[in-house]
Amino acid sequence: MGSNLQNDNMIDNRFNLGFFPTPLHELKNLSKKYPDYNIFIKRDDNTGLASGGNKTRKLEYLIKQALDENCDTIITAGAQQSNHCRQTAAACSIAGLKCHLLLGGEKPKVYDGNLLLSSILGADIHFTGDNRKGEDKEALKNKLDYKGNKCFVIPYGGSNLTGAMGFVNAVKELKEQLIKQKLKVDYIFFASSSGGMQAGLTLGKEIYQLNSKLIPINIDKDETNGLALEEVVLTIINEGLHKLNVNKNIQLSDIYLNRDYDKNGYGIVTNNEINAINKLAKNEGILLDPVYTGRAFYGMLDFLKEKRIPSNSNVLFWHTGGLPAIFKYANELK
Ligand SMILES: Cc1ncc(COP(=O)(O)O)c(C=O)c1O
Repeated sequence: MGSNLQNDNMIDNRFNLGFFPTPLHELKNLSKKYPDYNIFIKRDDNTGLASGGNKTRKLEYLIKQALDENCDTIITAGAQQSNHCRQTAAACSIAGLKCHLLLGGEKPKVYDGNLLLSSILGADIHFTGDNRKGEDKEALKNKLDYKGNKCFVIPYGGSNLTGAMGFVNAVKELKEQLIKQKLKVDYIFFASSSGGMQAGLTLGKEIYQLNSKLIPINIDKDETNGLALEEVVLTIINEGLHKLNVNKNIQLSDIYLNRDYDKNGYGIVTNNEINAINKLAKNEGILLDPVYTGRAFYGMLDFLKEKRIPSNSNVLFWHTGGLPAIFKYANELK
């Protein structure tokens, strides 16, 4: 398949953790309800790693790097319901690595959702109060290295260039599926939060000449280490363009991030997310999560309802997983 990549090594250098390609199919019932559009879905909820999710793609590259560097311990961070941390714990089980998770908040009386799964998967869990984006990772690394471990730190959300390579590769996978299914996708909607997926898809679009427009729906309005998400995404993209030898200039003003649906804050579930979860579940038998995909799917349906994109467009929702968090939000969802 066509690419303008001079060096494929970075794409091929991965440790197998999931089942790919993930399915790509039409949402037939929902397309009937929005007759101006054809709606499709890419099922990264089915990547297969301890209940799936988009982070599996990033972890294939991050875990490979950790193994190549002879590390024996992974440190990463997130919220208590972090899908990234749950998938990291599972990846460490497969790769034979120790896993330490720095999770925001205080230790709860009962573990549920992703927190429960991370614990079952064998992770050592440290509760870090107000810090949910890895602020304490260097201190923990120093402590564990001092005790004789060789630690590899995965950034918040797995979002650096190594992790983003998972989504460069995902564009290659999507392009192959589109050719096979004789399908053209005009718009791709997805939840963007720590930026690695958005950066990887943007790089992949350049490399594999995918013409679809990306509509990343912002999930978390808070900054990460003093940076807005657009800045994080741009930094990863520019590093990628340089390392992959792609001749293209991308500026901050080129980074599109839709911030219309993040106002209530990270992890706050409103009627918007609940309505989106119900709509996909009751029309298509597919489960979204309350934090990421529920919010992003609501955003997409709002775009369609308000006709913010041209009629007759083919629209793809990239389902990024997150199912276990549903059980944390049982009260809101029942
Ligand atoms: C279910 C789900 N969807 C989307 C995302 C966003 O991906 P990224 O952090 O690469 O922006 C995450 C990140 O945690 C997630 O868990």
